[in-house]
Amino acid sequence: MQPHGYLMGRRIAIGVGGGIAAYKVCDLIRMLRKEGAQVRVAMTESASQFVTALTLQSLSGEPVFTDSFDVQQDKGFGHLHLARWADVFVVAPATADLLARIRSGMGNDAVTTPLLAFRGPVLFAPAMNTAMWEDPRTVSNVKALKAESRYHWVGPESGVLADGDVGPGRLAELPAIVEAINRLAVTGPLAGERVLVTAGPTREAIDPVRFISNPSTGKMGVAMAQVARAQGAAVTVVLGPTQGLELDGLHVIDVNTADQMRDAVMRSIEGIDYFVAAAAVSDWKPSKVSPQKQKKGEGPEVLTLERTPDVLQGVSDHFQTQARKPMLIGFAAETHDIEVYAKLKLAKKRLDVVVANDVTSTNAGFQAETNRVVVLTVTGGRIEASGTKREVAAQIWNMITHLKGAVR
Ligand code: CTP
Repeated sequence: MQPHGYLMGRRIAIGVGGGIAAYKVCDLIRMLRKEGAQVRVAMTESASQFVTALTLQSLSGEPVFTDSFDVQQDKGFGHLHLARWADVFVVAPATADLLARIRSGMGNDAVTTPLLAFRGPVLFAPAMNTAMWEDPRTVSNVKALKAESRYHWVGPESGVLADGDVGPGRLAELPAIVEAINRLAVTGPLAGERVLVTAGPTREAIDPVRFISNPSTGKMGVAMAQVARAQGAAVTVVLGPTQGLELDGLHVIDVNTADQMRDAVMRSIEGIDYFVAAAAVSDWKPSKVSPQKQKKGEGPEVLTLERTPDVLQGVSDHFQTQARKPMLIGFAAETHDIEVYAKLKLAKKRLDVVVANDVTSTNAGFQAETNRVVVLTVTGGRIEASGTKREVAAQIWNMITHLKGAVR
């Protein structure tokens, strides 16, 4: 299975039970991390007979929760912390003993304690000997747990078990478990979609201490990225120099110049569903970059400039000849005749949507926390949106997904 990064930034807790299938959790962690997930593991005492905490810690890159009464662990990584932290809680292997204790509401070890405090979706991946799975008490426990809608199940599968028995009780195949986690962790109108966003300014060096740039803070682009992520998308942001942005859950590629932004974008565009060009790319760069600091003279100085690559135009051209095109969303920062210029950009760059804003108005545009925009679509749609940049981003995404539904 090719990783897609769909679980980018999703938080997965895995509660490991004491069964022979516990060793398979090692590969599960690896697969989840390849998909971009953050993984934290809790294990029962008996699980540590099958796989060590150190192994799971190395693979997850996070401390492993092994004892619910460890004061040291509880300070930074306690049971309630894990319950609050996780988007999805996976129990694998879910042994007969764990299922029995979870059913009865017990919280007496490192797995059941956080699970009892957890309010989100839980995925059980049972694995045990067939006789245990078919035992009337296990059957009754599973039935009772299945009655709860936030409890989900994958497997067990039938086959030859570790002890030679043949029948149901094998841990589900790992791709099936990852797929089930995907369905629980990634929900919303953009679930399974891949979004690439450019955000922030670029800096075009004049010499080692001077550059050409603009006052973009990257807030609008990152708001577009965050909303897409919250709606289920896997999001990559190619980000110019900015500060203090909330980038949790996003795959960020830092760049400085327009050329670097173009290169990073072109390396990341295959397979994307949406390209959002929110960056304020500098339109010019100095023709020559001085390797040393330029000393000032007495008279006026002349700086020769040349055009930078148009990143959005490059993406539009790239997909021109291809059967499968992403939706292209551009921004138009204007100071006058806003809609006229925005429409021209929509046509010239063959966009699906253009978001126009008046950068001279107060509480909108560069550096503001809020924004007020007009969104125009290729099919003649038009809305005005205002509010915090995040609220505006949500309204823009609404427009985009409606348009996609209508035209694709
Ligand atoms: N854009 C880009 N690369 C550039 C310039 C702009 O990707 N080198 C993108 C911006 O991210 C934005 C849109 O193109 O989505 C803006 O279009 P553009 O015509 O470049 O706007 P301006 O630079 O404002 O153009 P003009 O100066 O002609 O108004």
